[in-house]
Amino acid sequence: MSKNGWPDHYNLRDTPDIAERVKVFIDAQMMALKAFDQKRRQWVHDNLPPTYEMTYFFHDHAYRVADDMKKTALHMGMSEQTADNLYLAMLAHDIGKSLLPLHIWDTVEKPENEIKKLRRSHTELGINIIDEVLGDIDHPFIALMKDIMLNHHEQMDGGGYLGKAGDQLSAPVRLACIVESFDGYSIRRHHFGDRDISIPGVLKRMREEKGAAIYDMELFEHFAAMKMEESKTTNGHE
Ligand SMILES: [Fe+2]
Ligand SMILES: [Fe+2]
Repeated sequence: MSKNGWPDHYNLRDTPDIAERVKVFIDAQMMALKAFDQKRRQWVHDNLPPTYEMTYFFHDHAYRVADDMKKTALHMGMSEQTADNLYLAMLAHDIGKSLLPLHIWDTVEKPENEIKKLRRSHTELGINIIDEVLGDIDHPFIALMKDIMLNHHEQMDGGGYLGKAGDQLSAPVRLACIVESFDGYSIRRHHFGDRDISIPGVLKRMREEKGAAIYDMELFEHFAAMKMEESKTTNGHE
């Protein structure tokens, strides 16, 4: 990793063999996640009341957050190459979910602790998948992908899954945590009630209710500026 932590010192294309293996790996894992979402849909249909609306698809989430990583990096003036490294690494972040049981993801009420614990294991399960398939490769991209995968649910104050604080988290991880959190708050889920999930509404909630205890606020403001610009040009959620 370079001094500032951003993946700005390599291009996967310079090592075509590795680039190809990474591409094949991520494509296969994305397909597995899509298949898992379809099984979830069936499980929800068979087990939950018809009023339960399944809105949070892991496959779609992965593409949204990968996109947000890339756009924030470009907004901050990073190169296309750096932004692409971040995109690809983020795309893989939740692949471990496809190894977990179907019934833990969709719940009418907020999930209980046992279920939360199982859900949380998706980060380490994902690392196992990488080690199994790509473990022989020594390349900074693999290290980046594992870093984001393991740590994307951490918080600046150490209140996340693994209890790591901000100074133990790399810049890409700190951005991944913001992007992850934003997406989680932006897709309406069953227990949300009538909470404001517009882009400005979610950014306000993150800034005012969560703030520096949870996020790297310098990165957050770059991300927020990118999202606000996006919301104006697309008229997205406004
Ligand atoms: Fe995750
Ligand atoms: Fe995620």
